[in-house]
Amino acid sequence: MVEPKIAASILAADFTRLGEQVEAVATAGADRLHLDIMDGIFVPNISFGPLVLQAVFKATKLPLETHLMIDQPDRYLEDFAKAGASCLIVHTEGANHLHRTLERIRALGLKVGVAINPATPSLILDPILDMVDLVLVMTVNPGFGGQKFLDRTLPKITEIRKRIDHLGLKTELEVDGGIDPATAPKALSAGATVLVAGSAVFGSPLGIAKAMELLKYPR
Ligand code: DX5
Ligand code: ZN
Repeated sequence: MVEPKIAASILAADFTRLGEQVEAVATAGADRLHLDIMDGIFVPNISFGPLVLQAVFKATKLPLETHLMIDQPDRYLEDFAKAGASCLIVHTEGANHLHRTLERIRALGLKVGVAINPATPSLILDPILDMVDLVLVMTVNPGFGGQKFLDRTLPKITEIRKRIDHLGLKTELEVDGGIDPATAPKALSAGATVLVAGSAVFGSPLGIAKAMELLKYPR
């Protein structure tokens, strides 16, 4: 199995010392940061917006992948691009004209990501799979950190892996939600290459460095 990339989700960080926490995951080997943007409509929770993203951008050299859990994301693509996002991930369920939204992200010069919820079938990706750099499979229902990994999403990860390989694409396959040292190997065996982890990194009693090591090299 290839070593997974880790996207540390700052949703689980201590926001009173966000700069330090970002530095700690960078030192521990995080490949990028994952920023969860929630609008209280697409998902029941509200998190933070471009202002916080901009502050994080100033505090780190790590790429900032930005997971837009917002209704009609087209309204905010430019704002998040200006704030420092390296990649914008939009939901198939939140974008009315997904193809156009993906084209617009590309035109902004950013990496293009698409996310699908647990109840959305993988088939929805077929018409746009060759347009994206990254597919994010939600392994919990989006909206909150610290939820339990849904095993029923595993076959879907494998389906998407097969489709990516069949088409000879280099698309990254990322999983998000409930990823810890016990669930990470399942997602990786199913075909994922990138792990989003919030609670398992920032909330680990073992500390950030050890937590990151356990995710990268599960035993
Ligand atoms: C959930 C978010 C996740 C969240 C993951 O809606 O998309 O990125 O931060 O948190 P954990 O790793 O705690 O499940
Ligand atoms: Zn996320």
